Order: sequence, then C-alpha cells, then structure tokens
Amino acid sequence: MRIGILTSGGDAPGMNAAIRAVVRVAASREWIVAGIRRGFSGLIQGELVELTPRAVANVLQRGGTILKTSRSPEFLEPESRERARAVLEENELSAVVAIGGDGTLKGAHELAKIWRGRVVGVPATIDNDLSGSDDTIGFDTALDTALDAIDKIRDTAASHERLFLVEVMGRHSGFIALGVGTAGGAEDIFVPEVATDLDACSKHLVEARKRGKAMSILIVAEGEHEGGAFAVAEKLKAKTGFESRVTVLGHIQRGGSPTARDRILATKLGAFAVEAISEGKTDVMVGEVAGRLTTTPLEETWTRKKALDPFLLKLIPILAR
Ligand code: F6P
Repeated sequence: MRIGILTSGGDAPGMNAAIRAVVRVAASREWIVAGIRRGFSGLIQGELVELTPRAVANVLQRGGTILKTSRSPEFLEPESRERARAVLEENELSAVVAIGGDGTLKGAHELAKIWRGRVVGVPATIDNDLSGSDDTIGFDTALDTALDAIDKIRDTAASHERLFLVEVMGRHSGFIALGVGTAGGAEDIFVPEVATDLDACSKHLVEARKRGKAMSILIVAEGEHEGGAFAVAEKLKAKTGFESRVTVLGHIQRGGSPTARDRILATKLGAFAVEAISEGKTDVMVGEVAGRLTTTPLEETWTRKKALDPFLLKLIPILAR
C-alpha cells in the first residue's frame, strides 16, 4: 500500500510529530509513504518525495513542517483538483493524510469527492477552531508562546501603571484569546464570537482605576469586531482618556518547539489516521474528544461551530478585580 501525506495552510507546532507518527506507523505495516511538499500546491505539481522512517528522525521536537506548507487558492478550481487526482493515480497512491486547519480539511473534502482513494484529515492549527477534536495540534504550544509574551508585558504594565492591549491570532475564533486571557489574568478579552462592548469595558477600566488598579491587560483576538487592538486602543482612549500601548504578537505564535502535550496529541492522531485508513475510512478527520480517539465527517468539522467555554467567558471580568 502506498499513501501520501501533506501539510497545508498555516503551520502549527506538532505537525512534524504527526508526520513522524504517520510515517513510522505506516512503515510498521510495510506501507510506503510519499511526502507531498507544499500542501495542495505541491500535489498539483507532483512534488512527491519518499519518506522512510529514517527521513523523519529528529523532527519530533521541531516547529514548522518539514514538508513545507502553503495556502493553495488554485485548489478551488476544478481543473487543479483534476490534476491532483491524476498525480495521485500516476503515483499509485491509495490514501492521503492531510494535516492542517479548516482550509486544509475543505480541500481534503473536495479531493474525497473526486478521487476513489481514502482521504483522512488530521487537525493542526493554532486556532483550535475545528469540531471533532477538543484540541487541535499546535494550540497548546501557541498558548504557551503567547502567555510567555504576556507575562513579560505584565512586568512593564505593572512598572509603568499602564493599560496594555495585546493582539493574539484568531481571525474567526477566540480560543487563543480566551486561553491566554484566563491564564494571563486579562482585564477583559475581545473575541470574534462575542460583540465587543467598549462602553462596558471603559466603565470597568474607570472603576478599576478608582479602586487603585492602575495597570490592566486587555487581550484582543485579531478578528474581533472593532478592527483589532490598535482600533480598540483608540476608541478606549476617546471614551476614557487612558493612554495605552499595543503589542501585536503575530506569527511568533505559530513557531517554536511543540509542548509535550502537542507532541503526544500529534503522535496519537497521526497513528490513528493510519488506523482509520486501514479500516477503509475516508472523508473524515481524526480527533480526540473527552480522551477518546474518534473520527468525524470532514464537512462537520467546520460546519458545526466549536463553542468557546461559556464558563470561562463569564469568569474573565469577575476575576479582574
Ligand atoms: O489559521 C492560523 C492563523 O495563524 C490565523 O490565526 C491567522 O489569522 C492566519 O493563520 C494568518 O495567516 P497567514 O500566515 O497566511 O497570514
């Protein structure tokens, strides 16, 4: 049996650990694994390299993806998908493991519609915005990276008795913002899932100052409704008169060595993807839900919206005293 593996979309720490698990578990079944470089773009171009168990030595601890990745708008066109199918058939592959976020899984689903081989997705995105897995690969590491920066900013915020706004990633989801907001002691968080209430936030900040609290950290997800951290800072200044500083963490959140938790999750999901293929499953994503390995139809992973923890959302302003 010959299978292909690709990483696509935004890179996430732990992708390499997942590649390693797929390659080595497949090798234990005497399957051959072809690494497809640069995601769906590389598939269309036929950029395949054989991945032996030795080829994935020393990658477990490395961030990024050894296979490279890309956003592949060309895969939206039917002719490109036909070309991809032809490449898979020419190379006699009978399954593809696609590792990535919602864009990757959408691409994988389109491929499953036109190709008779099996297509299995592995959730890897720092955004954690896929249903069918409690956590996605890379989320835990991104939380730690962002939190490390926020802890440092807190030192300066406390010393200068200043208001800081920290913008974290998440165009469509606030999982990182809610996670680091909780772990980093944020005054408030702004996420795409909830309408931004600047009046309530201003009132809260003014009252906090009156109580003698001079420093505050606000966490803003990039996809929040007022236009991001700089826009929120300006609007809050107009309402309260408070000066602030803005830090946009950006792509540092995507890099770095994966945490133990991400390596373990990636290893389990990579291995389970091989199992799913051997059982004949296709058009599904592997995931871990409440400690159990599961498969979910690909389409459900982005159409069924994964909700932010309502308990934590309510707690944030209560804890900021
Ligand atoms: O999907 C992961 C992610 O990091 C998002 O949080 C962010 O909005 C986006 O990718 C940025 O994408 P790019 O690196 O292509 O600009």
